[in-house]
Amino acid sequence: MSGVRAAARTGLRRTAPAAERAWSADPYADALHAGRGPLFLRRADGWLLPLDVERWCAEADAADLEVLRRCEGTVLDVGCGPGRLVAALGARGHRALGIDVSEAAVAHTVGRGGQALLRSVFDPLPGTGRWGTALLVDGNIGIGGDPAALLRRLAQLLAPGGLLIAETSLHPDVDERVLVQITDANGTPGTPFPWARVGTPALLRHAATTGWHPTDQWSTSERTFVSLRRE
Ligand SMILES: C[S@@+](CC[C@H](N)C(=O)[O-])C[C@H]1O[C@@H](n2cnc3c(N)ncnc32)[C@H](O)[C@@H]1O
Repeated sequence: MSGVRAAARTGLRRTAPAAERAWSADPYADALHAGRGPLFLRRADGWLLPLDVERWCAEADAADLEVLRRCEGTVLDVGCGPGRLVAALGARGHRALGIDVSEAAVAHTVGRGGQALLRSVFDPLPGTGRWGTALLVDGNIGIGGDPAALLRRLAQLLAPGGLLIAETSLHPDVDERVLVQITDANGTPGTPFPWARVGTPALLRHAATTGWHPTDQWSTSERTFVSLRRE
C-alpha cells in the first residue's frame, strides 16, 4: 500500500468535468462540514432524491458492516464521501483506499484516519488491475450516469476474480440515466451532471454485458445490495 500512500500525497487530478465541479461545490462541502442535510439530487422535472448526509457522516451501521464483512483483500471505496467505510475497514485490518472528487470528502476521510485520494474513478489510479474488492455504495452506481461504463471501468481496476459490492435502488424496476443538480434547502441550483439509478435487475443486465457474474444479493429494510465477481 506504500504506492497508494505516495499517490495520496501527490493529490494529482485531471481537469474537472461537470460532475466533479458539482460534488466539489459548496452545498455538498457545507453539508459534510455540518454533518447533515438537507441536500438533494434534483432531476430536471423537479423530482428530488434526498442525500443521506447524516448517515454518511455517522459511524458504519449494521448494513455497512455486513458489506465490510464480505470484502476480500485490498478495498477501493469509490466515491467514499466522508469516509465511514474506509475508516471502519482500517479498524478491521483491511488495507483500504477511498477515492472521491470532493476535497471536503477526502479531507473528512483522512481526518477519520482513513487513506483517501482526490481522484475520479475514471482517472489513472494506483493498484489498477490489483484491487481485491471495490465498493459502490450509497447510490454510487450512479457515478458518471452510465452504469455499464462504470462497470467496465471497475473491471479494469480489480484483479481477476475480484469482488464488486454495489448498492442498488430499493425500487427494483428503476433503470434511469438522467441529468441532476445538487440542491440544498435554499434550492440553490448547482451544475447539471449525469447520474444513474438502477434496481437489481437492471444492474444484473448491465453486469452480464460488461464482464461480471453475480455472486449474491441481500437486503435490509432500507437498502439492497448485489455482489459481482470479475470474470
Ligand atoms: C451519493 S454520494 C455517496 C457518499 C458516500 N459513499 C459516503 O459514504 O458518504 C456520491 C459520492 O461520490 C463522489 N463522486 C462523484 N463522482 C465521482 C467520480 N467520478 N469518482 C469518484 N467519486 C465521485 C461524490 O463526491 C460523493 O462523495
